[in-house]
Formats: sequence, structure tokens, C-alpha cells
Amino acid sequence: MDALTPDGTRSGADADLVVEGGRLVTPDGVRDGAVVVRNGRVDALPDAGAPLPAGPRLDAAGRYVLPGLIDSHVHFRTPGLEYKETWEHGSAAALAGGVTTVVDMPNTRPPSLDPHSVRAKAALIAGRSRVDHRFHIGADPDRPHLLADLAPDIATSAKIFMAGHHTAPVVFRDEEQLDAAFAAAARGGVRLVLHAEDQHVFDLLDTRQPDPASYREYEAHRPRSGGIVAVARVVQLVRTHGTRTHVLHVSSAEEADLLTAAAGEGLPITFEVTGHHLSFTDADTARRGPRTRLSPAIRSSRDQERLWQAVLEGEAATLGSDHAPHTVEEKNRPPAQAPPGLPGVQELATAVWTGMLSRGTPPDAAAAHLARLMGAGPARLFDLPGKGRLVPGADADLALLDPDTRWQFSAAHVASRCGWSAYEGWLFTGRFTTVLASGRVVWDVRTGVSGHPAGRWLASAATASDEQTEVTR
Ligand code: DOR
Ligand code: ZN
Repeated sequence: MDALTPDGTRSGADADLVVEGGRLVTPDGVRDGAVVVRNGRVDALPDAGAPLPAGPRLDAAGRYVLPGLIDSHVHFRTPGLEYKETWEHGSAAALAGGVTTVVDMPNTRPPSLDPHSVRAKAALIAGRSRVDHRFHIGADPDRPHLLADLAPDIATSAKIFMAGHHTAPVVFRDEEQLDAAFAAAARGGVRLVLHAEDQHVFDLLDTRQPDPASYREYEAHRPRSGGIVAVARVVQLVRTHGTRTHVLHVSSAEEADLLTAAAGEGLPITFEVTGHHLSFTDADTARRGPRTRLSPAIRSSRDQERLWQAVLEGEAATLGSDHAPHTVEEKNRPPAQAPPGLPGVQELATAVWTGMLSRGTPPDAAAAHLARLMGAGPARLFDLPGKGRLVPGADADLALLDPDTRWQFSAAHVASRCGWSAYEGWLFTGRFTTVLASGRVVWDVRTGVSGHPAGRWLASAATASDEQTEVTR
């Protein structure tokens, strides 16, 4: 047994693994160095050239070493909708996209609207996930008070749908319900994550426009006004109650402006941008149809540019995939009946990497953006200690990214159960080559997933470690 150093690490011992020769993406900067792994954690991050302990080697030459990425917005469809996605498929897709931790949404069948259903969902997932996970509980318009005493080991964030669509389980339609939920969440220290589109705006517009007959009409059918009205209401609610609030899948320039201004005022409000709102425009939806039918809709190239600005200038706090698979048959229904949503946990980081490089972002800066928006940002908002930051003491979850490879994405690459992607045919720049979870290689570009699914339900930072064992399996 080797001596313990003052910070608790073992000195002189062989490492369990040394990832060497890579370019480390740390919160303090991007530099050449090695990752020394012991007991499933990052033990040290020596500079290039510094002496390294003995132990097995993993060559990361020519690659960025990112913290295992976090996707804080996935719909993995358990329980009840496993014909669209399973945790086996979804978590394999995550690994192929450099993602080792996900936060899953509650709009399942039945939805997870209370602690009991969250526990039941975790039990169904146990032994099936290759990624660590937490859950957003669903806020229930009929029981908003549940948020006031939600135990943090169950969830520290709750989803509110302000507009309905095919897969929204419950919708907050009236003012009192929303007000009660914001008040209860503030009391319980729960972060609200919001689908912020206003159902009343859409209902009103529907009285004078029929259901869209083609995808050319889809964006105008669910226009930006719905998002702008909802975001303005949310800002007012945050002002009143002080509730910590994260607005999901922001789709328009106006919403990004409002939310950036509100955060500038000091309100505890943040927002997410999705890969698909950065990658596609309404012209793609008009031309290619159902695959980019989404809620909120994908908007104009002007909006797309504003969202890129939010990502690159640090206004957005997270990137999320809104991984929302549906079957090909469902997506090919007539526009009024086709469900909104696309898979994306596998494509998100690679698509954004491709977009950043094509916009001229230097690779080191692009790597730092990914580590912030899919690492430190979501780890902070969603209470994921040990995740999202490449620092000593963190879980040894690592994503190795070859920054330059150009390759064509096709349906054959898709790991999601749905079997299709809106990115089929895209020429990506950059490719994940190796992904580690707790110091073990769990995915490799040549051989795919390895080992048994060892993903854990993560207890929150607010939970004592002895309780953690109880809730994790
Ligand atoms: O397009 C969407 N699909 N937006 C959502 O908010 C939900 C999602 C789904 O679950 O299919
Ligand atoms: Zn979603």
C-alpha cells in the first residue's frame, strides 16, 4: 500500500490507466498532457513531458481529451414508449456521441410526475444503461405543491410544458397553475426546465389557420410568437418568485435576446440551445419534411445565426440534443398527425463541432465551448458532482475526439432504436474515437460498445453518500 498524499491520492502507485499524448480540455485551459486514472477517477493531469506512473497506457495522440459529455435533455422513452427507444439503444447512441451522462425527460407512458414514478422508472432502467443518469421529474399542474418538498435524491429539476403537442403529458394552461409551480419550486429549491411556448397563442392562431397540409407551412403554423409570449411570462414569474429556471430549446432570436437581458438583470434564468436549431433552418423543413418537424419549430437562418452567437459568446448555458426519437412510420404520417422530434444524442457534439469549425472557431476554443456547454454548464445546473469537468478527483469519464477527420454520417451509424437521423448524408468534421466511463473504455469507434451496461442513477450532491448506495440500485 502506497502512502497517501495530503489530497488523498496515492503517490508512487501504479496507475490503473494513463491516457497519454492527448490535448486536455480542462476548465483552466486547453493544453497537452496526460490523464492518470486511479479507482475510476481522475487522479492527476500531468503536463506533457512530466514523469508518469507505471500502468496500462491508452494513446490519445492527435486527439482532444474532453470530460465525458453531459446531455441534459434526452427522451429515452422508458416506460411505455420502448418501441421508439430503449435505454440499451439510447445509451449506446450517447456513447457514440461522446456523452457519458444524460438527464432524461418525464413525458413517458405513464409520465414521471411524482417520486414514486421516478423510482419505478429508475428500477426499470437499472442494468440497462451504459451512461450515468438523472431525471427531470414532470411538474403536475394538478399537484404543483409536490415541488416544494421534492427530495433531491429523486430530482433537483422539474419539467414544465407550457404548450401541448403529441408527446406532452400534461400542459400548464392557466396562470394560477404556473404561478403555484414557480412558487413551490422556489420553496423546494427545484430548478424548473421549461418548454416555453404559449398554448393560448397557438390556440388563437389555430382558429384562423387550418392544420398544415405540407411542411412548407409548418414553421408558420407554430410561429415564434408562441415562444416570445411564453418567455416573457417566464421572465415575469422568475422576477416574482426568484425560481431558478432553465428555458429549453430556444428557437428564435427574440427569445435569446429576452433571456440574455433577463440574466443580465441578475435573474436566475439560463437557457439551452439544441443541435438541430443550430444545424437546420425552416428551408430544410420545407424541403425535407418530417425529419425536422420539431416543437419548437426550426426557424429562419437569421434565428440560427443568433443562436450560434448565443453559443459562441457564452450566453447559452447548455447544449442539449432534445433526443426525441419516433419511428419512421410515425414521422411519415400526414403533417398534422406526425409527432415532432428527432434523435440527436449521438449527433449533437459532432454536429456542433462541425458547425464551429466551419464558422472559423479555432479548434482549442471549440473544444473549450463543448466542455462548457456539455460539461461544466449542465453539471452545475443539474447537480452532477464529479461530472463535466476534467479535474483531479472527477469521475474518469473521458471522450477522445479526433478533431479533423471528415466522414459521412449515414443511417448505418445510427445507434438509436428509431434507426434514422436528420443528419443522414451530412459530412461531419471530427469524430469521437474512444469513450471511457469511470476509467474503463466503454465505446470505441472500431468496435462499438464494450462491457455490460454499468450506468448508474446518480444521487444529487445534496444527498449523503450513504443514501447514494440506496438509490443507485
Ligand atoms: O419536438 C419535440 N419532441 N419537442 C418536445 O418538446 C418533446 C419531444 C418528444 O418527446 O417527442
Ligand atoms: Zn424535449
